[in-house]
Amino acid sequence: MKLSEYREIIRPRLSDYRYRHCVNVAQQARHLAELYGADPQKAETAGILHDIMKDTDPEEQLSVIQEAGIMLSEIEKSSHKLWHAISGAAFVKMRLGIVDEDILKAIRYHTTGRAGMSLLEKIIFIADFTSAERDFDGAAELKKLVEKDLRQAILEGLCYTIRDLAGRRKTIHPDALAAYNEILLHS
Ligand SMILES: [Fe+2]
Ligand SMILES: [Fe+2]
Repeated sequence: MKLSEYREIIRPRLSDYRYRHCVNVAQQARHLAELYGADPQKAETAGILHDIMKDTDPEEQLSVIQEAGIMLSEIEKSSHKLWHAISGAAFVKMRLGIVDEDILKAIRYHTTGRAGMSLLEKIIFIADFTSAERDFDGAAELKKLVEKDLRQAILEGLCYTIRDLAGRRKTIHPDALAAYNEILLHS
């Protein structure tokens, strides 16, 4: 399928803000793929689809997760914000027939990251932070950083997530901590 077809699929499922975000993430993902040597088309596809379930009712998300035979961990059950990544990957596999494991994983892990991320997964993780409309504290610096140092930018993204969650006394998914530790220890 082409980008324009995926746009049509996500449009009615998302708010205006979220739709714009997905278009921007797709564009940033393509740019970063060209910059760092990943497949630009896969990056664009994963980018446009990464938040496909973000505005979907939690109950419906859970039923997609269940249909895919996925068991949520205790932390995943407690953190509703993680559901859209899990249900999103399941949805595009089951309903859109996407079979590329790299694209599926990029969607699945875009919120937490994980140890052993592929280049495509890293690009989607950080494109989500650095898309054009992002304006959180430090967004401008992160957009600059990702142009010259992918590793450092991902580390900053993970720090932002971990700090934010700890600051709000929320649980932190072990995949996020594993991604953070791996960067410090092995790259
Ligand atoms: Fe997301
Ligand atoms: Fe997103």
